[in-house]
Amino acid sequence: MRVLVTGGAGYIGSHTCVALLDAGHDVAILDNLSNSHIEVIERIKLIAKRSPSFFNVDVRDRAAVELVFDSFKPDAVMHFAGLKAVGESVLNPLRYYEWNVSGSIVLFQVMEQHNVKTLVFSSSANVYGNATDVPIQENAPIAPTNPYGQSKAMIEQILADLVGVDTGWRIARLRYFNPMGAHESGMIGEDPNGIPSNLPPYISQVAAGKLKELQIFGDDYPTSDGTGVRDYIHVMDLALGHLAALDYLMHKKGLLTVNLGTGRGYSVLEMVSAFKNACGKPIPYRIVERRPGDVAQSFADPSDAVRLLGWKTHLGLADMCRDAWRWQLKNPNGYSA
Ligand code: NAD
Ligand code: WQD
Repeated sequence: MRVLVTGGAGYIGSHTCVALLDAGHDVAILDNLSNSHIEVIERIKLIAKRSPSFFNVDVRDRAAVELVFDSFKPDAVMHFAGLKAVGESVLNPLRYYEWNVSGSIVLFQVMEQHNVKTLVFSSSANVYGNATDVPIQENAPIAPTNPYGQSKAMIEQILADLVGVDTGWRIARLRYFNPMGAHESGMIGEDPNGIPSNLPPYISQVAAGKLKELQIFGDDYPTSDGTGVRDYIHVMDLALGHLAALDYLMHKKGLLTVNLGTGRGYSVLEMVSAFKNACGKPIPYRIVERRPGDVAQSFADPSDAVRLLGWKTHLGLADMCRDAWRWQLKNPNGYSA
């Protein structure tokens, strides 16, 4: 198939492009490189031994997106492009609604005009807000607590409305838990701008000596060791979840909504210990106050994805830490030379 990947130069998108190329699909990446590096395209080509097409385009730019559709003629779209920093979204909600919601509306309109009605959308476990019943099932209330999560919930609603009015659409809403790790080649991985806010890249940079110590946000949660528990999923398992969703949509019209997680949670201290084993160095840390807005534990019930997609995760925490560390060692400054 011809698959257009918006945000395909980013962390999850780039890994998914490799998986798509490996599976024999033709891939075009639409990305404005606002949070990624042009070098990614070359790395994808080196790993997959096939080149994706690349369009340096902003998804909000209707005329440019139309040209991409005219030239690449996709059969399906995977939509990763968007902003993802929860804290920044609280400070600048309009930017998040414009980039995420308005950008998505432009994309869906162009898809409709070009009669391309197969879409895999990057949603987030963030739409569940402060869900306290774990494992979290897809029918848990949608109750985001920040503009980033709200923007994902709004896009999910738009997609449900599209399917409601036009039965030609085939749409998967994939709610990711906490992606981590890198391609086993160590050639592509997560390359955050500035100081990372998520745990995995922060630990990586502490291990590499770029940051002095990890601050652990609270050790008084009602969890096994008092630190927060999350469902970390290897980015390649996540990438394969997108291929499984695309296959599913080939056989079934309508709307699919599934969690992509492992179903198992790990605490911050368990992560520190696993990373220490992977890199062979101690990870200095200090316990500090809880981070406002954090929940004690969040992990998926992925059984719908397993049942409907025939997909399950294969890689565990040790694999995620090993691959994250390999990427860090091979690319101490990310994609910048
Ligand atoms: P990322 O920032 O690495 O990738 C996003 C890509 O989209 C970047 O290459 C960026 O340049 C591009 N982009 C952003 N706005 C754009 C625009 N207006 N036009 C064109 N390109 C644009 O992020 P990621 O971690 O790969 O996340 C991908 C998607 O998955 C996002 O939608 C994110 O919200 C979602 N998600 C991420 C996580 C996570 O923890 N990483 C968890 C759940 C959901
Ligand atoms: C994980 C755990 C922290 C950093 C966020 C978004 C979510 C999704 C993934 C996009 C928590 C603890 C963290 C640190 C720490 N992204 N921590 N010290 O908050 O589960 O999810 O990213 O969709 O929507 O909300 O991930 O990696 O920030 O935190 O102790 O320096 O690590 O308290 O328990 P989170 P995270």
